[in-house]
Amino acid sequence: MQPYIYSIIHIVGILLTFMGFAYGMKQWSKGAAIAHGTGLVLILVSGFGLISKKYNNELQTWMFVKLAIWLALGGAIVLVKRRVVTGVAAWAIQLGLGAAAAWTVYHGISLLG
Ligand code: HEM
Repeated sequence: MQPYIYSIIHIVGILLTFMGFAYGMKQWSKGAAIAHGTGLVLILVSGFGLISKKYNNELQTWMFVKLAIWLALGGAIVLVKRRVVTGVAAWAIQLGLGAAAAWTVYHGISLLG
């Protein structure tokens, strides 16, 4: 498979994950959990697909940072479900994690190696 296919799956996974957050924050439903969980699986599989296609399976520091962010995004759905964080705080945590993941790609590569 061409690398761009993995990139598209990566982005679709990100969209699904955040749609799950948005639906779950409005009103908790099984669909929100399914969207979020499916999105995370797509992100993980395509992320490692990209590592194999674009980086020849050589692991770099920024990739571990993204893995940690991925885990945090997984845990964050529990906070949404139990309404531990709501409103602006929830938005800030979710978007902050997403922005940090994007940062590692566009700047962290040169900074972290
Ligand atoms: C297990 C977790 C993850 C792994 C292993 C991973 C890995 C990767 C890799 C290898 C690339 C290609 C970088 C390049 O083009 O040089 C990439 C791109 C990208 N990742 Fe991730 N990633 C993960 C999670 C995430 C998460 C959680 C987000 C955001 C919420 C994210 C956002 C992006 C974006 C915006 C791009 C650039 C577009 C693209 O090339 O597809 N990633 N990721």
